[in-house]
Amino acid sequence: MEKKYEDMWLSSLSKRSKRLQSSVIRELLKVTQYPEVVSFAGGLPAPEFFPKREIEEACRHLIPRNGEKMLQYGATEGVPELKEFLSEKMRKYGVPSEPENILLTSGSQQALDLIGKVFINEGDRVLVSEPTYLGALQAWWLYGPEFVTCGMDEDGVIISEVEDVLKEGPIKFMYMLPNFHNPAGVTISLERRKRLVQLAEKYNTFIVEDDPYGELRYEGEDITPIIVLKKERVIYLSTFSKTLCPGFRLGWIVAPKLTLKKIIQAKQGADLHTGTFVQYIVNDLCQRGILKAHVAKLKKVYKERRNVMLESLEKYFPKEARWTYPKGGLFLWVTLPEGTDTEVLFEKGKKNNVAFVPGLAFYPNEKGRNTMRLNFSNTPPDRIREGIKRLGEMLKEEL
Ligand SMILES: Cc1ncc(COP(=O)(O)O)c(C=O)c1O
Repeated sequence: MEKKYEDMWLSSLSKRSKRLQSSVIRELLKVTQYPEVVSFAGGLPAPEFFPKREIEEACRHLIPRNGEKMLQYGATEGVPELKEFLSEKMRKYGVPSEPENILLTSGSQQALDLIGKVFINEGDRVLVSEPTYLGALQAWWLYGPEFVTCGMDEDGVIISEVEDVLKEGPIKFMYMLPNFHNPAGVTISLERRKRLVQLAEKYNTFIVEDDPYGELRYEGEDITPIIVLKKERVIYLSTFSKTLCPGFRLGWIVAPKLTLKKIIQAKQGADLHTGTFVQYIVNDLCQRGILKAHVAKLKKVYKERRNVMLESLEKYFPKEARWTYPKGGLFLWVTLPEGTDTEVLFEKGKKNNVAFVPGLAFYPNEKGRNTMRLNFSNTPPDRIREGIKRLGEMLKEEL
C-alpha cells in the first residue's frame, strides 16, 4: 500500500487499539500445521472424535421441524430451552442458578471480553495467577488494567500471595481457573477455594471462575465450584469447546441477575446474540444425552493420552526437568532449570518437527522463560511418544 494510505490508517487507530497484539499461540499454530510436526502447542480437542454423525443427524432432524426459529434472530440471553437445560445442569453441580442467571456467549472467550468491557477501568488492578490463560490477558489488555499476580503450586493459587496482593490495595477482581488450569494443569483444592471466597468477602471484591475443563476429570473426585461457596461474589464461565467442539463457538456465563444485565447489554452491542442455529443443535445433543456419552468417551481417550505423555516424560526427559500431574483437562506444564530459554528451544523444535508453547506467553510480566506448556489431547499416543522423545533429546543436548 502507498505510504500516504498507510499513514492515514495508522494515524486513525484508537489509543485503545494500540494495545492490541496478535496472540502468540495463533502465530505459533501457523508453523505447527504441517503433518510432519508433532504439535503439543495448540489447546485443541482430538478432531477424529468430533461427533460428526450425531451433529449431522441433529441438523437433519431439526431443520424441517424448527428451521424457521433456528435461522432467525434470537434473544441476546440465548435460546430459552438451552438456558433451561444449563441452569438445571448447573444446579446438579450444586451451582444455584435459574435460567435468568445464564447468558449464552460466543465461546468463553467472548465472556472474558465482555467482563473486561463491563468491569475494567484503565489502571484497575486485576489479580491473575502466574502463569495464567493467555486469552484472558489478551482480552483484558485492551481495557488497560494493571495485572497483579500470585504464584501457584500443586494445589492451585498460593493463598498467602493472593492476600499479599489484596493487602497492597484494592483489586477489581480475581481471575481463577479452578480445574486443570490452562496452562499449568493444576486444580485449586477445596480448602483454598474456601479461603478465596473468604478473602473476596474480607476485601470486598469478586471472583471470575473460568472452568472450561471441569467435566474432563480423569481421576479423583469433583471439587465444589467456587460459585457454590458464595454465588453473590462469583461470575462463572464454561464452554462447549472442549467437551463438544470449539468450532461451534458456544459458551455460557452464570452470574447474579444484576451483573448479568450489564453483561447482556454489552453483548447486545457486540453481536446481538450468539448463533441461534448452533444453540438449537447443541440443545438437541444435550437433551438426547449425546453430549454426556461423548464426554464419557473423551475422558477415556484423553486419560490414555495423558498417561502416555507422563510415561514418555519419565522415559525421555532429562532429570533436571519437572512437570505437573494433571488430573484432567488438556495440558501439563514443564519447568526447566533457571536460565533455559524455551523460546530458543521452540525455534530448535521447529527444525526437529516438534512444537510446544513457550511459557513466557502465559505471564503478564516477562517471567517464565524456563517453562513450557504441553497439550496431550490433540495427538495420538504413538505420536506423543515420538514427539516427547524428540523434545527430550533436544533438551538433553541443551542442559
Ligand atoms: C481457561 C480458558 N478460558 C477460556 C477459553 C476460551 O474458550 P472458548 O473456545 O470457549 O472461547 C479457553 C480456551 O482454551 C481456556 O483455556
